[in-house]
Amino acid sequence: MTVCSACGHELPEEAKFCPECGAPVATTAAQREQRKTVTVLFCDVVGQTELGESTDPEALRALLARYFERMKEIVERHGGTVEKFIGDAVMAVFGVPFVHEDDALRACRAAVEMRDALPELGIRGRIGLNTGEVVTGTEERLATGDPVNVAARLEQAAEPGEVLIGGETVRLVRDAVELGEERRLELKGKSEPVAAYRLLAAVGELLRRSDVPIVGRERERRVLDDAWERVRSEHACHLFTILGAAGVGKSRLTAEFLTPLEDVAVVRGRCLSYGEGITYWPVVEVVLQLGRRPSDTRAAEVIASLLGETDEPATADEIAWAFRKLLEESAPVVCVFDDLHWAEPTFLDLVDHVADWSRDAPILLVCIARPELLDRRSTWAGGKLNATTVLLEPLTADETDELIERLLGDAALAEPLRARIREAAEGNPLFVEQMLAMVAETQSGDVVVPPTIQALLAARLDQLDLAERGVLERGAIEGKIFHRGGVEALGPEEPDVPTKLMALVRKELVRPDRTQLAGDDAFRFRHVLIRDAAYDGLPKAARAELHMRFAEWLEEHGSDLIELDEILGYHLEQAHGYRGELGLAGEETDELGRRAAERLEAAGERALARSDVGAAVVLLERARGLLPPELRPLALELSAIRALHESGDLDGAIAVASSMIDSARAVGDRGAEYRGRVLRAIVVFNAQSVTVDELQAVAKEAIEVFTELGDDGGLADAWALIARVELHRNQWRAMAHAADRVLEHAERSGDPTALREARVFALPPRVYGPFPVEEALAFLSISGALDAYVLSMSGQLEAMRGNFDVARRFIREGREYASEHGHRLVGAGISMQEEEVELAAGDPEAAAAAGLKGIADLTELGERGWLSTVAAHAAEALYRLDRDDEAWELTETAEQTGAPSDVITNVLTRQVRAKILSRRGEHVEAERVAREAVAWGAPTDSYVSKADSYRDLAVVLSAAGKRDEALRALDDARALYDAKGHTVGVANVDGLRSELVASLEA
Ligand SMILES: Nc1ncnc2c1ncn2[C@@H]1O[C@H](COP(=O)(O)OP(=O)(O)OP(=O)(O)O)[C@@H](O)[C@H]1O
Ligand SMILES: [Mg+2]
Repeated sequence: MTVCSACGHELPEEAKFCPECGAPVATTAAQREQRKTVTVLFCDVVGQTELGESTDPEALRALLARYFERMKEIVERHGGTVEKFIGDAVMAVFGVPFVHEDDALRACRAAVEMRDALPELGIRGRIGLNTGEVVTGTEERLATGDPVNVAARLEQAAEPGEVLIGGETVRLVRDAVELGEERRLELKGKSEPVAAYRLLAAVGELLRRSDVPIVGRERERRVLDDAWERVRSEHACHLFTILGAAGVGKSRLTAEFLTPLEDVAVVRGRCLSYGEGITYWPVVEVVLQLGRRPSDTRAAEVIASLLGETDEPATADEIAWAFRKLLEESAPVVCVFDDLHWAEPTFLDLVDHVADWSRDAPILLVCIARPELLDRRSTWAGGKLNATTVLLEPLTADETDELIERLLGDAALAEPLRARIREAAEGNPLFVEQMLAMVAETQSGDVVVPPTIQALLAARLDQLDLAERGVLERGAIEGKIFHRGGVEALGPEEPDVPTKLMALVRKELVRPDRTQLAGDDAFRFRHVLIRDAAYDGLPKAARAELHMRFAEWLEEHGSDLIELDEILGYHLEQAHGYRGELGLAGEETDELGRRAAERLEAAGERALARSDVGAAVVLLERARGLLPPELRPLALELSAIRALHESGDLDGAIAVASSMIDSARAVGDRGAEYRGRVLRAIVVFNAQSVTVDELQAVAKEAIEVFTELGDDGGLADAWALIARVELHRNQWRAMAHAADRVLEHAERSGDPTALREARVFALPPRVYGPFPVEEALAFLSISGALDAYVLSMSGQLEAMRGNFDVARRFIREGREYASEHGHRLVGAGISMQEEEVELAAGDPEAAAAAGLKGIADLTELGERGWLSTVAAHAAEALYRLDRDDEAWELTETAEQTGAPSDVITNVLTRQVRAKILSRRGEHVEAERVAREAVAWGAPTDSYVSKADSYRDLAVVLSAAGKRDEALRALDDARALYDAKGHTVGVANVDGLRSELVASLEA
């Protein structure tokens, strides 16, 4: 039911005026403000002054009147609207009141006709046209926006008798027009030169390619074949209708069906999207292709009249009858009518007539239409026994992939881009085709909606009545999936949303979906691009308003939603953003920003707590962006630094920390200042090789400040910094102690992120420190968390006791975990554990590969703290592969990237160098370096690392012939491995010992 927008009276169907108050019924979307893409045309007279001088004023007036008349007629015939006459200039808009998918081409055709008509009028003129997004439906003008100005400037830049068109227009019409060379124009008010082209002719059609083999559609082709089979065997007429959305492949399917039909007469007619007197255009096309006339004299007269050969009139009934006669006499025949959604009712009657009345003649009528046909004639093909209708569905995901493959040919396309195209096209081959072309053209690596598709969808939406369109737009505010309740809340003036929604379902624009809110109904846009087109048509002021109201509605009704904060934050953020774009600063806008930031922060905190770092970074950065620096809450800044740090964006984290420190200092907030300093120190640890003493000093100072302030959150962070310092020094018991302090304060402050960190810090001491393998594994397994750290460290421990398969599985799972959760830094760091596992397992090849990959990944992330260790392990692996030179080079890399005070780097690089020197026969130097390694490890409680350096000392000594000393070093190594429960190390030492003893005996 529709009601009058003026008086609310219920309206009979298809009423043009309200029977109650007489107000015109608003059936179109044309009356209100909208954003749409249109083509604007300017035509102006050149040399008006000379014309005025040489022509009598009365004659001049008549001439100009003729000129305006003629221009208007041409514009309107092509479906454009004349905006106004400015002096002698004509401004026309194509796309008002309704958008057509071929507006740009219509404008080009009109422009060429206008250009050619001017000389006949005795006028010299020039024309410019341009396509772009404008606002329409405003009080004073048909269209407002930059594209209008550019069109006017193009007209001014054109030579007399010339048509200049803009680049955007060219993209839409390229195949259908003939262009002159490109010209770059400096236009007033434009910083960049604007590309323009001379339009020479516009004779072609908007073509679609058919050069790649068809994908799928076997079933539909079979149904078509069967229908044809039946037509022939039963000697009867059959009406076959193919329905489907624009671009889904109706015409293509038909073409494929027709190709093998060789000895059959095939005729085609196409309904045109515009023009006058086109009702019978498709019939005329078919008659001409048949190349014959009906044998009946009267029928032949009617056809002659149809073709304009005689002036004798013929009625619609007569034409239908005569055409049927002609078809029957031409049978067997396949007659295809394409684009029936543009057909005039009289033409539809004609097709109906043929299907109903033809007898004893094998005729297959193939009618192709978009579902809009059913808007025009809901009973199409209904009630006929000799009719089949198929609805062509989108291609499946696999078929889409295959189509992408075929269209690409040899060209490459990165998987993420491919996935986005697959997703956005949703099985529509035309969209796939156009988006691929767009990607190839712009090379931006971004999927944007091609202008051709935009035009197609906008044209579809422009045909909806105002109420349906409104419902669709309000749905688009929520997103691809939306709820009836939301639509109702956003448009309380719309009395019957459910009916409108059902109409939209019938029109194939949306479909019912599973609801996310109890007691509500959900719908999904058939296509995300339809959603976007509906949304894009809304003026920004309306978007701002609707997003805000939607957030209010959702606050009340969305408590079921798991991600309510994200969603609310999004809508408030959108409202805030659009208000900003419209220059609406002020308290209301600021308040929106604050509310949005609060929601996004809450969502970001949650993401960080479940260590979904990728999401956390995005959410927290968005929250920050909504607030001026001085209004950003401390917690938000701290979380942002943490999230950035974990995601591997070290520079970003440092930048946030530094700005936060500055703000805190400015207002004399010591607590905040030290929170910032501690966090920055933690990040700097990974980013630069600093001396740990400096960091320890920061931590100590901070602990004093925080203790004074009773700030447990700060204390947890400060102890976390100390834990890192101890880690760097390989003081594992001390690190375990610091980790306990972190846990204590984290528990008190209740900060989930600090709690998680506390657990993480408890791990390395168990792996590297003086805790036996069994005990360490038990500790890890009860630590609760199963994150990338726990997994990879468990792997390392398992390798120590010889469970290599288990160890490798853990490493793999750790990597998967890290990549799934966006922990790029941790993921890259796992190379360290992988190297150790592979070295223990005796596979230096795999260890080297893991190491080199780790070096590349960490370098890319700008990480320096782990890089040196990874490089040093890789050096060991290369040494074992007898690639001594490369190994030596990597020890240098390690040395340069590691902090001078970094214990493990110093130990590892010396171990490798000592062995290389020993191989070269430089025994004295080798022993000196090996002993240095032992000395570096001495103050630490790194059982494994110390054991390793004793073992390597033994290797070097034994090569130098110092067997007793070698045996003693092996004893030292064995004792440490044994204490750790490192059975692989023990076995290794025992093997070396027997070799040594055997060589002694020999
Ligand atoms: N199954 C398919 N395999 C490969 N390409 C296809 C397939 N279906 C369609 N195409 C291609 O996609 C484009 C759009 O198809 P087509 O022109 O047949 O759509 P349509 O449904 O007739 O659209 P419209 O309603 O706009 O006329 C064409 O370039 C066509 O060659
Ligand atoms: Mg088609």
